[in-house]
Amino acid sequence: MATSLCKVEKDFKYRRILENHNNTVQDHKIYFNPLLHIVTLIIWVSALTLIVLCTIFAILRLQGNTETKQIESSTRPVSGKTGDPTKVLSCYYNFPSEIVSHELMPADIHPYLCTHINVAFARVVNKQISLEKHELTTLQEVVKLKHSNPDLKILLSVGGAGNDNGFSEMVINHASRKIFIKSIKYMLRNYTLDGIDLDWEFPALHGLQGSGRERQHFSQLLREIRMEFIREKRDYILTIAAAAPQIIVDVSYDIDQLNQYVDFVNVMTYDYHYYTKYTPFTGFNSPLYPRASEQLYLATLNINYTVQMYLSKGLDPSKIVVGVPTYGHTFTLVNQNNHGVSSPASGFGSLGALGYINYPQVCSFIANFTSDTTIQQDSEAKVPYLYNYKEWVSYETPQSVMEKAQFIKQNNLRGAMIYSLNADDFEGICKHEDSHSNKFTLSLSVRNTLMCSNCSKI
Ligand SMILES: *[C@@H]1O[C@H](CO)[C@@H](O)[C@H](O)[C@H]1NC(C)=O
Ligand SMILES: *[C@@H]1O[C@H](CO)[C@@H](O)[C@H](O)[C@H]1NC(C)=O
Ligand SMILES: *[C@@H]1O[C@H](CO)[C@@H](O)[C@H](O)[C@H]1NC(C)=O
Ligand SMILES: *[C@@H]1O[C@H](CO)[C@@H](O)[C@H](O)[C@H]1NC(C)=O
Repeated sequence: MATSLCKVEKDFKYRRILENHNNTVQDHKIYFNPLLHIVTLIIWVSALTLIVLCTIFAILRLQGNTETKQIESSTRPVSGKTGDPTKVLSCYYNFPSEIVSHELMPADIHPYLCTHINVAFARVVNKQISLEKHELTTLQEVVKLKHSNPDLKILLSVGGAGNDNGFSEMVINHASRKIFIKSIKYMLRNYTLDGIDLDWEFPALHGLQGSGRERQHFSQLLREIRMEFIREKRDYILTIAAAAPQIIVDVSYDIDQLNQYVDFVNVMTYDYHYYTKYTPFTGFNSPLYPRASEQLYLATLNINYTVQMYLSKGLDPSKIVVGVPTYGHTFTLVNQNNHGVSSPASGFGSLGALGYINYPQVCSFIANFTSDTTIQQDSEAKVPYLYNYKEWVSYETPQSVMEKAQFIKQNNLRGAMIYSLNADDFEGICKHEDSHSNKFTLSLSVRNTLMCSNCSKI
């Protein structure tokens, strides 16, 4: 129908060009002919009507297409107890170590804090999802949170930093992907999970033989998982965790395929700066915007750039879930008098472990060493940092993560991802007078800003 209408219009346009041509040839003979004017008017009106009709038709068809696509990778509403049901707050929960005490246990996660909990991380071993016994027990404990909040979605997250070994041999052909998909189905069914989150860091990046096709193979995997979910008539959720730096994004993902097959993308918009031998400078873990002094590549290492980059590559805003860290990075300054951003650093800080520090540790450090600690707010990057002699720390506060949540709302993105619940203040050490609850203050700040203006307090 649409095509035939448009064809009529095209033929019509073509005739008019011919007619115009004839008219100019005959112009000198026609001085004034009212009939001709009326006819011309009628022709113009019909032409305009046809164009309008065709445009409407084209738009309707486009919408139809996106609708069918969205059935595949559906934008299902997800909801907490209150608030905007279309927004996502997807929170990573890491398996507690069996040896360390004071770890966050599943029963201590507030069931209404997040819309999605990604239990992390399972590995890929022999093309199958692999978990240790104690991890399976933890997974079952997390699923029990659904008794308190039936709307809460629990996903199993596969991969994670340094856990990418099994992916390459698994994606390489249809047969091995099939083994993996079977193990996904088994896990989802047998542990009554709501979906799977793939954290391959990163497809096509390690430079091994055959990695050139990995991006394509990864897209095929996503497609096959989605098709299997549809075939099973289950509304399982499929998400991925994706890189923030453009140099990785360019290599690892087919953005149009992500639009088609995943429910949303957890963008890891953190670790923009941390100490390495090659980057021996202080810098922000998760700056919202660049600082004016940053140029070229350095000006790309911030949330705003990453989000605009994904949007300009065509990733739908409804697929973008922006990562918000609860942990910070620590540095040791070369010279304690040179304590600004981008100052020379000689290594990780002494706080935390291997340069990573949890939010409650930051609070307790500030409380213990108030007089020697200087706290600065960077008005451009919208994050704080602190220094104390040679210790330098980039971290987040309820204020800085709230600004990230506001950015997410302003840009109409799908939501926020928290990495991780474990590094948030789950024991209530930070004691913010201004907040109703003293626990999970960073995640809560994101939740309250993102999901609702007047949330039921938790
Ligand atoms: C399926 O999960 C249950 C717990 O939900 C577990 O007891 C059982 O062993 C699992 N089945 C298999 C075949 O592993
Ligand atoms: C955010 O990114 C957009 C697009 O690149 C740019 O126009 C805008 O100026 C950026 N905002 C800031 C504060 O840097
Ligand atoms: C702060 O002091 C308390 C009590 O002495 C101690 O347990 C804690 O480890 C200290 N924290 C830091 C980061 O130094
Ligand atoms: C916010 O919620 C509280 C309690 O849930 C309610 O009493 C109050 O009227 C609400 N305010 C607005 C502006 O909706």
